[in-house]
Amino acid sequence: MKIILLGAPGAGKGTQAVKIAAKYGVAHISTGDLLRKNIKDCTELGKKAKEFMDGGRLVPDGLVVALVKDAVSAVENVLFDGFPRTIEQARAVDGFAAVDKVINLRIDESLLMNRLTGRRVCNDCAAVTHVSLLNGAGKCQVCGGVLQQRADDNEVTVKSRLDIYCKQTAPLIEYYEKQGKLIDIDAGRESDEVFKDIERVLDK
Ligand code: AP5
Repeated sequence: MKIILLGAPGAGKGTQAVKIAAKYGVAHISTGDLLRKNIKDCTELGKKAKEFMDGGRLVPDGLVVALVKDAVSAVENVLFDGFPRTIEQARAVDGFAAVDKVINLRIDESLLMNRLTGRRVCNDCAAVTHVSLLNGAGKCQVCGGVLQQRADDNEVTVKSRLDIYCKQTAPLIEYYEKQGKLIDIDAGRESDEVFKDIERVLDK
């Protein structure tokens, strides 16, 4: 099974990907996470990617496609989170992976700024949460680790990411509609409700 999770920044791709990977045993490939790991490890790719990510711009297609090809070379069942993000990347996927379903997490843009600027990520276990769920506690509710705000989750960078999503990634909706693979899911609801719809799609 090969699945793509499409959606604007903050639509809940990462949140749903964790649930899908746990239930269906697919490898979760998040290009955002892979790139952030390269930045943390100070690799050559990380150094190149950092300026694009800090500015809320997309990392060049060639770098990202090579990264994903390498990550999926040994896995059969995979869930792409945040990839592809351009028509060029989607064409590259057509060449190396037979995608079964593309789940589009559709959401009203007005909900995204709050979700993203309020997101906190655990330094230790990488669990993702939102300040509104912390009840004043500053620690990770999974492992007690220190929570951090992502460098690109500030208002200015979020605006740029949303703008780039509209221009460069939203056209993929039509691309996959034409391939008959697109399934739209309303991601503006509570996370468990969204997941129930995803389960219905994947259990078919
Ligand atoms: P990436 O890390 O992929 O970021 P993104 O696409 O901007 O998506 P996010 O991780 O911000 O959001 P999400 O949809 O996963 O939401 P989440 O579940 O965390 O990419 C970062 C950067 O890397 C890019 O800008 C680019 O520079 C580069 N990059 C990555 N991939 C690339 C590619 N393919 N090509 C080129 N460059 C690439 O949820 C967000 C918040 O909302 C959390 O606080 C969560 O708790 C909350 N939340 C989630 N679901 C719900 C819900 N149902 N109700 C209420 N709150 C919810």
